[in-house]
Amino acid sequence: MGKRNRDELSIQRLESVEQAETCARMMDESEPWITLGRGYDESLTILTDPLREVYLAMDGDRVAGFVVLEMEGAFTGYVKSIFVSPPYRGRGVGAWLMLFVERRVFRERPNVFLCVSDFNVGARMFYEKLGYEAVGELRDYIVRGRSEILLRKTVGPLAEFGS
Ligand SMILES: CC(C)(COP(=O)(O)OP(=O)(O)OC[C@H]1O[C@@H](n2cnc3c(N)ncnc32)[C@H](O)[C@@H]1OP(=O)(O)O)[C@@H](O)C(=O)NCCC(=O)NCCS
Repeated sequence: MGKRNRDELSIQRLESVEQAETCARMMDESEPWITLGRGYDESLTILTDPLREVYLAMDGDRVAGFVVLEMEGAFTGYVKSIFVSPPYRGRGVGAWLMLFVERRVFRERPNVFLCVSDFNVGARMFYEKLGYEAVGELRDYIVRGRSEILLRKTVGPLAEFGS
């Protein structure tokens, strides 16, 4: 990123197949998805699913990072994936994408959920810094011998939300 600041980036909705393909290539080459066995095709299916919302952090026409959000289903407000391109890491881009998602979710629902792999130590520290609480362990969930840790950030009970 050179000396470019985070506030010179912009967040926009994913709008083309080419952008989805770029994101799928990034995931295909990155942990945790290598260990989890999620290849390019599965990532592309996730990124192009019209039921999901994909937001990109753009540096001009370059994708610096992205987040995939689900606003349907049992865990409404579920962050399916977040990724920051290696040269942009450690500069607040991931925290900024999560803040964007939290603002979007908390307008409609009181919880943000996500799963992090037990071996993804850096991401676990990242979510802890952002105030996420571990609420469960899904053993052997994606691959045998690994767990997914279910995390949650909440602004209150469902029954009190919006009342
Ligand atoms: C996890 C990830 C999204 C973090 O993005 P990022 O832009 O580097 O994170 P930020 O710079 O916004 O960091 C926010 C805070 O988390 C901390 N943090 C981020 N990555 C960390 C790491 N690997 N180890 C320890 N702390 C970390 C930062 O120090 C920062 O804390 P601070 O506010 O006290 O300075 C990025 O490393 C990534 O894309 N990893 C590969 C994909 C992945 O694991 N995704 C998560 C799947 S569940």
